[in-house]
Amino acid sequence: MKLTVNLGEHSYPIYIENHILAGAGSYISQVFKGRRIMIVSDDNVFPLYGETLLSSLSGYDCHTLVLPHGEPTKGFQSLPTIYGAMLKARISRSDLVIALGGGVIGDLAGFAAASYLRGVKLVQIPTSLLAQVDSSVGGKVAVDLPEGKNLVGAFYQPKLVLIDPTVLDTLPEHFIHDGMGEIIKYGCIKDASLFETLKSHSSFADLKPELKDVIARCVDIKRVVVEHDQFDTGERMLLNFGHTLGHTIEQYYHYERESHGEAVAIGMYQLCLAAETRGLTKKGCAARILDVLRIYGLPHACGLPIDALTEAVTLDKKNLNNKLNLVLLHDIGDSYVYPDGVEFFEGMGNV
Ligand SMILES: NC(=O)c1ccc[n+]([C@@H]2O[C@H](COP(=O)([O-])OP(=O)(O)OC[C@H]3O[C@@H](n4cnc5c(N)ncnc54)[C@H](O)[C@@H]3O)[C@@H](O)[C@H]2O)c1
Repeated sequence: MKLTVNLGEHSYPIYIENHILAGAGSYISQVFKGRRIMIVSDDNVFPLYGETLLSSLSGYDCHTLVLPHGEPTKGFQSLPTIYGAMLKARISRSDLVIALGGGVIGDLAGFAAASYLRGVKLVQIPTSLLAQVDSSVGGKVAVDLPEGKNLVGAFYQPKLVLIDPTVLDTLPEHFIHDGMGEIIKYGCIKDASLFETLKSHSSFADLKPELKDVIARCVDIKRVVVEHDQFDTGERMLLNFGHTLGHTIEQYYHYERESHGEAVAIGMYQLCLAAETRGLTKKGCAARILDVLRIYGLPHACGLPIDALTEAVTLDKKNLNNKLNLVLLHDIGDSYVYPDGVEFFEGMGNV
């Protein structure tokens, strides 16, 4: 299955096929005419899939950099290691960087590709569910600073994205949850029929035969949103549904308790519930979201007093002048931006 992100001269194809990794070379040869490639991956993913990718690239001069897995690798301090490896491999502006991994590798290698020699070509091969449905599409690349996540970054579109759903067979369950949080989000904000598909299954295992189509649906939703708002000044905000509360929950527990997907799940449900009581969302939506969260083993509450959250939201550097652009649902599949302040959360009790 092929989708094309239409962004003028920065347009690119996304292919979604089971076992596409083994044939990656032939897709890459369509967008890259050079010889030298730097593959950036992590120490979980490369031992599982590095050899398959390398075999498909046998005609190229391939170099690899395998970094430790996990969010700390996305720190700014990893950049000199990557630039150093690229210099050592004599990567020039006409060469290629391939990011093989989850969102951490995609964002980090993507930012390195965007900045090294003012930009070298990038191919994304996302291997986590979250990276396949979200981070590999749309061109946001970034690294973290000690002061916070994603504080240094760029908009840098890849030349190609290759999505192989079969690699998810080895993805730990915790990270399946992260991806499912985002998939449910897409249904909520843009696609009632995707939401119903998710609801019609009994678990992730039960959804698996349809996973390729579900991933494609999500990528297509993100594609359209990105085409309308490449630089995140309007419609792209809808992708943040559940994320304001979610980020606050993650931060409050120092990223040690709820995973990102779990925090977003709680954020989506609680926000919807609060919006229903204010007449801003059709009654019953929160209950429908709760049903789907339960199917995929995601939480809907974390027992935190709302005061703690409003304080954290107020302190968040991104929330200047106490202004929040909340993403709410009119109904499942139909979202809108609702500008308000932290007062919105007041009176919610425990979240
Ligand atoms: N650029 C964007 O638009 C965007 C959007 C959402 C999230 N993000 C970023 O994405 C990052 C999170 O991404 P993530 O959840 O993929 O994290 P991740 O890259 O850390 O991957 C999760 C874990 O799964 C492992 N893994 C990945 N694929 C695997 C596979 N197929 N088999 C076995 N193990 C595998 C990784 O080694 C890692 O331990 C965050 O830094 C976040 O800020 C970016």
